[in-house]
Amino acid sequence: MNWAVTTYDSPFGYVSAKGAPLVDLLDPQPGERIIDLGCGTGAFSAEIAERGAEVLGIDGSAEMIAQAAALNPGLSFAIGDAHDFTTSETFDAVASNGALHWMTADPDAVIAQVHAALRPGGRFVGELGGAGNCAELIVAMQTAWRVFGLGEPELPWYFPTPAEYATRLEEGGFTVRLLEHAERPTLMTEGPNGAADWVRVYMAHALADVPPELVEPLLGRIVDLAAPALRRESGWVADYVRLRFAAVRKPDGAAPMPVGPFADP
Ligand SMILES: C[S@@+](CC[C@H](N)C(=O)[O-])C[C@H]1O[C@@H](n2cnc3c(N)ncnc32)[C@H](O)[C@@H]1O
Repeated sequence: MNWAVTTYDSPFGYVSAKGAPLVDLLDPQPGERIIDLGCGTGAFSAEIAERGAEVLGIDGSAEMIAQAAALNPGLSFAIGDAHDFTTSETFDAVASNGALHWMTADPDAVIAQVHAALRPGGRFVGELGGAGNCAELIVAMQTAWRVFGLGEPELPWYFPTPAEYATRLEEGGFTVRLLEHAERPTLMTEGPNGAADWVRVYMAHALADVPPELVEPLLGRIVDLAAPALRRESGWVADYVRLRFAAVRKPDGAAPMPVGPFADP
């Protein structure tokens, strides 16, 4: 998809702001080599680098990578699709903030690439939209699209349940150490038209197919439909549901589990 790089970092800066605690879960150590997968404009990469790790930001969008490089001189960035990127060395960790749910073509392929990039024992730490993410926003959008006779817009996300993602990680060669599925109502930091702005940024591809004269009425209807659930006195709140995980790449050829009378703790 094409990302509106300039709007991305302003009204929706909360995507990056919410990454702050994730860096603590990742716990980068000085000298570690860490990939930030789906790095966008590199805000999370910079947080990782501040802890003394060597970071490589990878993103599928050339515009994002150009912006990341401009904003973070001294850090390394590369264009790459998470489904088939390759690295010439192995890494101590792969981290990803708010990006895995955009990688919809084949989640198992993404996990396989992460596995290949990590040394045995390496960490895979991430936060993505989980099942139920943005449910109110999505229903408002789908309803408005139908009201205007436009059919269903194609949703560009993958919001897995914790059970589903844990299974993918386990089957992909990881041991899951932590998995949280939590509501994270998040204040949209700008504008009285929160739901409309959200659709403009995140559903730009679907909006591009809407006849130009219908765009504003359509967005107005989305605002009307979403407001009762999401507009507060303090502003618009996005109904985020986050899936946060920390997993470790299993050692190659892991020894079979010990059995016998002394196997229990
Ligand atoms: C919402 S942004 C998050 C960016 C950043 N991690 C942050 O915390 O601000 C999602 C990013 O994922 C990237 N992305 C989406 N699909 C991708 C793919 N298949 N491979 C690599 N990057 C991808 C997009 O280009 C975008 O920069």
